[in-house]
Amino acid sequence: MSEETPSDQTLANLSREERRFEPPAELAEHANLRAEAYDRAASDREAFWAEQAERLAWDQKWDRVLDWDDPPFAKWFAGGKLNAAYNCVDRHVEAGNGDKVAFHWVGEPADDTRTLTYAQMKDEVCKAANALTELGVKTGDRVAIYLPMIPEAVVAMLACARIGAPHTVVFGGFSSDALASRLTDCQAKVVVTSDGGYRRGAPSALKPAVDEARAKTAENGFSVEKVLVVRRTGQEVDWDDSVDVWWHDAVDSASTEHACEFFDAEHPLYVMYTSGTTGKPKGILHTTAGYLVGSAYTHWAVFDLKPETDVFWCTADIGWVTGHSYIVYGPMANGATQVLYEGTPDSPERGRWWKIIEEYGVTIFYTAPTAIRSFMKQGREIPDRHDMSSLRLLGSVGEPINPEAYVWYRSVVGGDRTPVVDTWWQTETGSIMISPLPGVTAGKPGSAMTPIPGVAAEVVNDEGEPVPNGSGGYLVLTEPWPSMLRTLWGDDERFKETYWSRFNKQGYYFAGDGAKKDEDGDIWVLGRVDDVMNVSGHRLSTTEIESALVSHPKVAEAAVVGAKDEDTGQAVCAFVILREEAGDGGDDIVEELRNHVRKEIGAIAKPRQIMIVAELPKTRSGKIMRRLLRDVAENREVGDVTTLADSSVMDLISSGLASGK
Ligand code: WT7
Repeated sequence: MSEETPSDQTLANLSREERRFEPPAELAEHANLRAEAYDRAASDREAFWAEQAERLAWDQKWDRVLDWDDPPFAKWFAGGKLNAAYNCVDRHVEAGNGDKVAFHWVGEPADDTRTLTYAQMKDEVCKAANALTELGVKTGDRVAIYLPMIPEAVVAMLACARIGAPHTVVFGGFSSDALASRLTDCQAKVVVTSDGGYRRGAPSALKPAVDEARAKTAENGFSVEKVLVVRRTGQEVDWDDSVDVWWHDAVDSASTEHACEFFDAEHPLYVMYTSGTTGKPKGILHTTAGYLVGSAYTHWAVFDLKPETDVFWCTADIGWVTGHSYIVYGPMANGATQVLYEGTPDSPERGRWWKIIEEYGVTIFYTAPTAIRSFMKQGREIPDRHDMSSLRLLGSVGEPINPEAYVWYRSVVGGDRTPVVDTWWQTETGSIMISPLPGVTAGKPGSAMTPIPGVAAEVVNDEGEPVPNGSGGYLVLTEPWPSMLRTLWGDDERFKETYWSRFNKQGYYFAGDGAKKDEDGDIWVLGRVDDVMNVSGHRLSTTEIESALVSHPKVAEAAVVGAKDEDTGQAVCAFVILREEAGDGGDDIVEELRNHVRKEIGAIAKPRQIMIVAELPKTRSGKIMRRLLRDVAENREVGDVTTLADSSVMDLISSGLASGK
């Protein structure tokens, strides 16, 4: 560690110190959004959003900014007509920016790169739109996308948007079971996938999971009609001529001419599945205009995007909402130049990300705290080998960023120059809700600060009353916003019940997070207050993992908790009671169960730890007391056990674990 850099101890002290980082003068002077915007937006929220909607190209302007006559079902920009793909590609080409780079794509294998201009993206999107139509996809049909981080993923999404077919992108790390349940839930007509992708230098198959998922959906009496397959790795694939179609056959030969149709503002744009408190993932529905307004506005305001000079890089996978809003829709609606990277941060070398920043002159970088913490662990020598002076702004998303990680990020990656925007939002909110404004806010390490102009948030108590500064409570959004989810796919009741009925207050959106307002009224998000875990910035449901465990023939009962983890924020810890006939389960029982969860859901859900126990702590009404299990998982003294039906259970668990049984 060199002398100028603060030691870990200093960093820890800094975070205790109420240090604030003022915006750099230069950035403040030229900032896209100024302090006055807060008052302007608060005094006439709808007028403010109407102003933001002007950043899009409309075939027909709206009649009404917000229709909130039937809450919680909102309509934004009703009467307006537009096409999301036209906004993301065509209009930039028409404005003379066709030669501008849309993506510097960096493949995982070294030297496997592609540059795509906006004109090229437009041609590819038009070709893919024609190919999808040829495959029978019509406006309103759902198309699933299960791809690695290759340009075709972006092309496929925009092609769907262009023809008004809502897409549902399923993260490539999800299992065939997870894919099958999503395909069935939204009745996808076509799946776009690839033979495989690259993972740490080696090809890794994807197509077999689609084949398996298709077989499973067929068992449920539903069938996917066509599978469009990109050739990425060249590996062998099973082929069914009646269903499978190569992308290079269907798309490459298609016409680059495609007249786009304009859709209603509220036309469904996509469904993104996310874990809830029950075993069944929720299909979050986003619609066209409001979502595009929200993602474009926030990308411009929070990242201070200057499309002529900035190079933006968001490291999220397109399979998550962050990739949808801050790789595809927000940045492309804004005509940004971006880096799109296929691989992992440390392959083939640990400095791969920093090398990419140096090589492409990345100016704005957006990533997750879990990644930052893992780089911190590797030490600053690795980033220090690279010239990252192009960076002018850093962003964080996915989980609370601990002050040490914030300070390290700002100092080591940002060379002590760059503001860090800690952005709080969710799949449901569609775009950033709470964040510093880089040219306005003096940032506090660890705080997402205040709602951005146009957004209204509060921290409330059980009765829905705002808590005073210095206190904690539940995070709520108190006014509708354009990029809000419209419903859960096929389940209006669950939509109302999950988000809008927690408080006896009309129109309060319950986010599921706990938060604190500090003495200045700034917001510190503390994490989920429901049975949802946050592992490496990914949302996982305890119930979903419990169901996966219980589906194993040797398991009688399971309880899952999220335990604090230094690297991943939280980690999945499972307590399992085996069936009597399974005996002690065998030597490899823990590994067997971990792999079972991986197979059922995906590698991200694989428990860090599984503890085989004889009993689970339950209340008299039979509810599992996860709080006590969390104490065990986090090696703490077990808390109050007086509400347990059988108060000796915790002793049994602790002694059983100590003796290795
Ligand atoms: C949950 C949403 C939308 C981004 C990717 C995750 C947590 C997200 C922050 C932040 C503290 C955060 C919350 C939220 N979260 N960003 N800056 N500070 N917590 O999307 O899977 O829908 O998860 O992630 O708990 O509810 P998601």
